[in-house]
Amino acid sequence: MKLGHCAALFGLLLFATLFSAGNCLWPFSRKSNTPPTPPKEPQLSPVIFVPGDGGSQVEVRLSKSYSPYFICEKTHDWYNLWLDLEQLVIPMVYCWVDNVKLYYDKATRTTHNSPGVETRIPGWGDPDVVEWIDPTLNKAGAYFKDIGNLLVNMGYVRRRNIHGAPYDFRRAPNELQQFFIDLKQLVEDTYEANNQTAVTFITHSMGSPMTLVFLQQQTLEWKTRYVRRQISLAGAWAGSIKAVKVYAMGDDLDSFALSAKILRDEQISHPSTAWLLPSPLFWKPSEVLAMTPSKNYTMAQLEQFFTDIDYKTGWEMRKDTMRYTQNFSPPDVELHCIYGDGISTVERLQYKKDNIAGETPKLIMGVGDGTVNQRSLRACQHWSGQSSSQISTLALQGVDHMGVLTNQDVYQYIRTVMQQP
Ligand SMILES: *[C@@H]1O[C@H](CO)[C@@H](O)[C@H](O)[C@H]1NC(C)=O
Ligand SMILES: *[C@@H]1O[C@H](CO)[C@@H](O)[C@H](O)[C@H]1NC(C)=O
Repeated sequence: MKLGHCAALFGLLLFATLFSAGNCLWPFSRKSNTPPTPPKEPQLSPVIFVPGDGGSQVEVRLSKSYSPYFICEKTHDWYNLWLDLEQLVIPMVYCWVDNVKLYYDKATRTTHNSPGVETRIPGWGDPDVVEWIDPTLNKAGAYFKDIGNLLVNMGYVRRRNIHGAPYDFRRAPNELQQFFIDLKQLVEDTYEANNQTAVTFITHSMGSPMTLVFLQQQTLEWKTRYVRRQISLAGAWAGSIKAVKVYAMGDDLDSFALSAKILRDEQISHPSTAWLLPSPLFWKPSEVLAMTPSKNYTMAQLEQFFTDIDYKTGWEMRKDTMRYTQNFSPPDVELHCIYGDGISTVERLQYKKDNIAGETPKLIMGVGDGTVNQRSLRACQHWSGQSSSQISTLALQGVDHMGVLTNQDVYQYIRTVMQQP
């Protein structure tokens, strides 16, 4: 651990338990003369955080032979690309988009960075990189940190029995084979390092279906041995209409003074956005996703929608990820499905004109957690009775997609569940 980070933790976090965590040496010796007794901790199920879309740090190294604008750097050693809010404002955002966007190769059906751009996901296994998405610990980048602190208050120790599983959230499962291999290893290593105790996944948003894909790949024997449970927060189990909105007009990430139109260029280049499109298992073919004065785009006409917004690549990526969407077999581990509800959430797009390319539609709202539609959040209930593993759900009225990470009822629930052996 870097010294600077260590000091920052002491400055920021008030929990006394952190000071004895062993990762950073407490600079003062103990006053007590009694010999330290060996810790008699109950065997806690080690935790692995699996983040959602945008929930991992990304680093970049540049050696470009061109730059999209004269202000943009062509060469640079490794630096933080996500999340750094300073790079997201005009004009820097134009350089940023060129560094973070992906290009689709229709022959290999895979994506790659802009020429001269290398990316990597730092901090494998480390909870810090998903507790704070902004490595400078800017408040806006706080992610799993409150849940991390909750666990520490229960006797957990970061990097011993709290880990993070960051991944390249721009990609969908079809390009994340190495992540799944690494995750399996992390689970096994964590199990062994904790007296052969099965792990608990705490997952958020896209991290929930990502963990589902991982679990579907494992045998029942492996899961029974290594996985104690999954606690899913705001799981986007069946996608979201919000992804349709991103293709139509981009997303300003809600809280920041950012331009959706500029960010759209990058957002729609991510296969994960295609994977997050609404699932045909939960949206009927006749359901209308977008309306124009004389025409409707139903779920069955999604391909036409991509043609008409002039982004057929989006449809190709949809096809690449469809096998993951279509496989909705249960995770076969104890599942706690927690989500917010009762918040206005985009349900449909309404265009003023028939020609929709480049147009900004009006949003027709339905219900969900503000980001994910209710039926997708609730899709986990589909497995009740299908699986021999227990499934519990907790819906919290008025709690939004990020709010589940900082909600007292969620904390109480997690505490209670994690105290069970
Ligand atoms: C490991 O588990 C065994 C069996 O439950 C127990 O007897 C032992 O005390 C545990 N060791 C530690 C270090 O927790
Ligand atoms: C489009 O769908 C809406 C809602 O289902 C319906 O009211 C409308 O008549 C449809 N319009 C066309 C042109 O089919």
